[in-house]
Amino acid sequence: MLTMSESLMENLQSIENDALQSIEQAQDLKQLNNLRVKYLGKKGPIQEAMKKMKDLSPEERKELGQVSNKVKTSIQEAVTNKQEALEKAKIEAQMAKEKIDVTLPGRKPNLGSPHVLQQVIREIEDFFIGMGYSVAEGPEVELDRFNFELLNIPKGHPARDMQDSFYITDEYLLRTQTSPVQARVMLERNGKGPIKIICPGKVYRRDDDDATHSHQFTQVEGLVIDEYITLSDLKGTLAEFARKLFGEDRKIRFRPSFFPFTEPSVEVDVTCGKCLGDGCSMCKQTGYIEILGAGMVHPNVLRMSGFDPETYQGFAFGIGPDRVAILKYGIDDIRQFYTNDLRFLKQFNEEW
Ligand code: DAH
Repeated sequence: MLTMSESLMENLQSIENDALQSIEQAQDLKQLNNLRVKYLGKKGPIQEAMKKMKDLSPEERKELGQVSNKVKTSIQEAVTNKQEALEKAKIEAQMAKEKIDVTLPGRKPNLGSPHVLQQVIREIEDFFIGMGYSVAEGPEVELDRFNFELLNIPKGHPARDMQDSFYITDEYLLRTQTSPVQARVMLERNGKGPIKIICPGKVYRRDDDDATHSHQFTQVEGLVIDEYITLSDLKGTLAEFARKLFGEDRKIRFRPSFFPFTEPSVEVDVTCGKCLGDGCSMCKQTGYIEILGAGMVHPNVLRMSGFDPETYQGFAFGIGPDRVAILKYGIDDIRQFYTNDLRFLKQFNEEW
């Protein structure tokens, strides 16, 4: 028969063995914490055994107390070690899962590219900047005064009918041309030249959209004002422009025309890219294709914007990038520029 003390001693030993074994087998931190509470908590088996010590002699109690402390320490240590091991294993598992294979080919992000009209505008800008021009901009919601009146198109002038407009109020409209930027820049300069600018941007007209018309399109206005500017300066500039944009073998010709803000006014044609001037179906047998309007700045326009026509002359032109793109790339429907069909747009992909 074991004495009370011996049986308690054995009991503590088996608690330790049980505990160490269960701790060793714990699968995760939650299970481990439950075991810690189970064995070391206030209602645990060690505390239970200690309660039974009260009937023992002081020596036996001392001895058992030491053993129970050792058992507690040993269980606590086992819990701590196991906890570290489980945490380490968890991190290792996570690292293994999240490992990056640097040898895999990368995924190329789908980048956009500039719109074909933007590319053409940039090409036009590059050319004129190279000739010493600077780029000016104006608002798309424009005053009637700048869009028409300061360009020698007073209210009731028949030329207003040529440019059906989107009016917002009696005073404000969506600009029908980029020419109003001319007037804005001239007024800023207080009658002092020289001026050499181009003004690219969007313009709007009340048109029914079809293959050759759009209620929105782009224009690049050009304006040069200085002393001793002549029509031959305009011709030389535009001839060079046509060669750079369309090819060295291209020529231009002037045809008399009318614009209220220029006098004389001309329509400018470039030799057809298909037949180079011999005549074919593309140019309707004329050998030429119209690319822009231009002329010498009308004295009224100079005067209204503060320039003395006795001292200053100038030329102006209005290029249509939509038309330039159509001729360069053989596009047969202007609506393609604005309907955002990726199959169309991707043909003009260009790296920035
Ligand atoms: N603004 C004109 C238009 O939209 C184009 C134009 C023609 C501009 C002749 C000019 C010019 O500066 O001189 O039809």
